[in-house]
Amino acid sequence: MSYQTEYQASIENPVKFWGEKSSLIDWFKAPEDMLKTDEHGIQHWYADGELNTCHLALDYHVANGRGDQLALIYDSPVAGQKKSFTFTELRDQVALCAGMLKNLGVEKGDRVVIYMPMIPEAAVSMLACARLGAIHSVVFGGFAPPELAVRLDDAEPKVVMTASCGIEIARVIEYKPLVDEAIRIANHTPEACIVLQRPQATASMDASRDHDWQTCMQKSQPADCVAVKGSDLLYILYTSGTTGKPKGVIRENGGHAVAMKYSMNAIYDMQPGDVFWAASDVGWVVGHSYIVYAPLIHGCTTIMYEGKPIMTPDAGAFWRVISEYGVKSLFTAPTAFRAIKKEDPNGELSRQYDLSCLKTIFAAGERLDPPTYEWLSDTFKLPVLDHWWQTETGWAIASNMFGLEPMPPKSGSSTVPVPGFNIDILDEAGNRLGNNEQGFIAIKLPLPPSCLTSIWGDVDRFKEAYLQTFPGYFATGDGGYFDEDGYLFIMGRVDDVINVAGHRLSTGEMEEIVGNHPMVAECAVIGRKDELKGQMPMGFVVLKNSAESSEQQIIKELISMVREEIGAVAAFKEALIVNRLPKTRSGKILRKTLRCMVDGEPYTVPSTIEDPASLDEIKTLL
Ligand code: COA
Ligand code: AMP
Repeated sequence: MSYQTEYQASIENPVKFWGEKSSLIDWFKAPEDMLKTDEHGIQHWYADGELNTCHLALDYHVANGRGDQLALIYDSPVAGQKKSFTFTELRDQVALCAGMLKNLGVEKGDRVVIYMPMIPEAAVSMLACARLGAIHSVVFGGFAPPELAVRLDDAEPKVVMTASCGIEIARVIEYKPLVDEAIRIANHTPEACIVLQRPQATASMDASRDHDWQTCMQKSQPADCVAVKGSDLLYILYTSGTTGKPKGVIRENGGHAVAMKYSMNAIYDMQPGDVFWAASDVGWVVGHSYIVYAPLIHGCTTIMYEGKPIMTPDAGAFWRVISEYGVKSLFTAPTAFRAIKKEDPNGELSRQYDLSCLKTIFAAGERLDPPTYEWLSDTFKLPVLDHWWQTETGWAIASNMFGLEPMPPKSGSSTVPVPGFNIDILDEAGNRLGNNEQGFIAIKLPLPPSCLTSIWGDVDRFKEAYLQTFPGYFATGDGGYFDEDGYLFIMGRVDDVINVAGHRLSTGEMEEIVGNHPMVAECAVIGRKDELKGQMPMGFVVLKNSAESSEQQIIKELISMVREEIGAVAAFKEALIVNRLPKTRSGKILRKTLRCMVDGEPYTVPSTIEDPASLDEIKTLL
């Protein structure tokens, strides 16, 4: 099948196209109404179908001859542990875990928050929720208690599942005190907390609320898969928006399962039985889709790697894992490759391993910058494929459709729209722009399966954030252009979202935190370019006249406030005290100008600037 034929079919008649693709998965009851519009005017794929995502990921394969195949391999250089599970073993663990949740009263539709490191129990917990029709919400372990608390208040989980600790290289980070603190400051109190005790740290337990994972599993009976509707929710995943309050992106079971299954072959060219490795974290969307759900639904073996690309123990870590387990396709963030390249510029460590199993390298999370692309291509002589993604979609919006029809990659481009994504480049007024004209990237409705259909509990915010900017379109928040060959180039966010080491963060949220310091009059936080992490936040801070502490002291306090409120991943390490911020006469801070100045890029000073001297002052400070 050629890409063009498949793409055109998906755009000309999405209902027919996705109706046919629905038969890729094993429904309990096949959908009849492929695309239903609800009372808010929002469209849902396969709403009346019945299925269970855990059944598709596990039981289906056990029943169809894959029971003895490896489903999940856990490799932890930081814990010094390796472990693997066949599909039958994983199904049994998940069924027991579902039984444990059931014993705590968890039912279809209930929410369960999972705050865990990269250990098999994180995937087991997610799949156990799916098995019961409960809605999981995984919170990335690098987030601090206030971030976890916001999610507890929004998702209102019945149960929280956690582990005694995570391990960051050689540093043991106790998770349980963070969970206790989050529950203390949240308004919502979960009924129960299940804690997996790891050997590296023992969590103290509150007998009235906390339950030991091992003990509960021993007492549990396996629970069966519960049938859910195609439009019932599989999970909520919070992501940074432009304000302090994260957006609870929701994912429906039916569309998600079909998109996951379709993508494994059409994008990644994977066959059932192959080994797929997404070196990410279950706390991010890539981890949800391509560590847990898609590989398992497709009958592939997936890898959970608890370690870093470097330092665990060296920059050959990824190549060791690939050769040890026969990985066919690697998917990770460009920042990980930049870290490896810095430590091992000539790729010498990679040559210590037999990488003949590896056929493709996929990158996402941020733009695959041309130098990193060239380095990967030259070092590994393999197809290196950038593809563009969002938490909101759950899978790639643009990619080289390697399983359909491999295309010659172009450095700096994420190639072409994935079937189902009808992409236009628009100007501010919503007019379509031509080739090589940069503008706002928008996706014409209906979005394909798996994309969010609301923000948890806030359909108005969903409409306002995504649907109202360009009527008839979903506004992605990214800017870019198509070239004359129809290749898409993503040029970065057009809002206050930044990407730090592949972690999506909100500068708006950082501004709120910095602005809360008693000595701060006003501030702006921008994302400046960083060679390793892609972007790093940088603050510009105006102090109140009455500021009593030294500037250095205040900067130290601001850095620690952001770390305590958001978490270490925010990597807010740099702030500049200035006398005034550059603003327009209407009071809008010129963040884009600031960003260009810091990055040493050309900028024009808007005619509406209130006080041009404010820019001169900053220029002398940089
Ligand atoms: N739990 C607790 N803390 C965490 C954490 C977790 N799960 N993940 C990260 N952190 C902490 C780190 O320890 C670090 O703390 P520090 O400031 O005290 O050193 C901080 O958060 C920043 O971490 P990170 O972003 O990982 O940066 P790093 O400098 O430790 O490592 C890379 C740099 C490039 C090696 C690393 O960012 C990386 O592997 N990135 C890939 C990201 C990725 O896979 N993204 C998913 C999108 S596909
Ligand atoms: P997240 O929701 O965490 O997956 O982050 C999504 C954002 O990351 C997108 O809106 C983009 O800004 C950025 N992003 C992800 N993948 C790419 C890519 N391949 N090229 C450019 N930007 C990307």
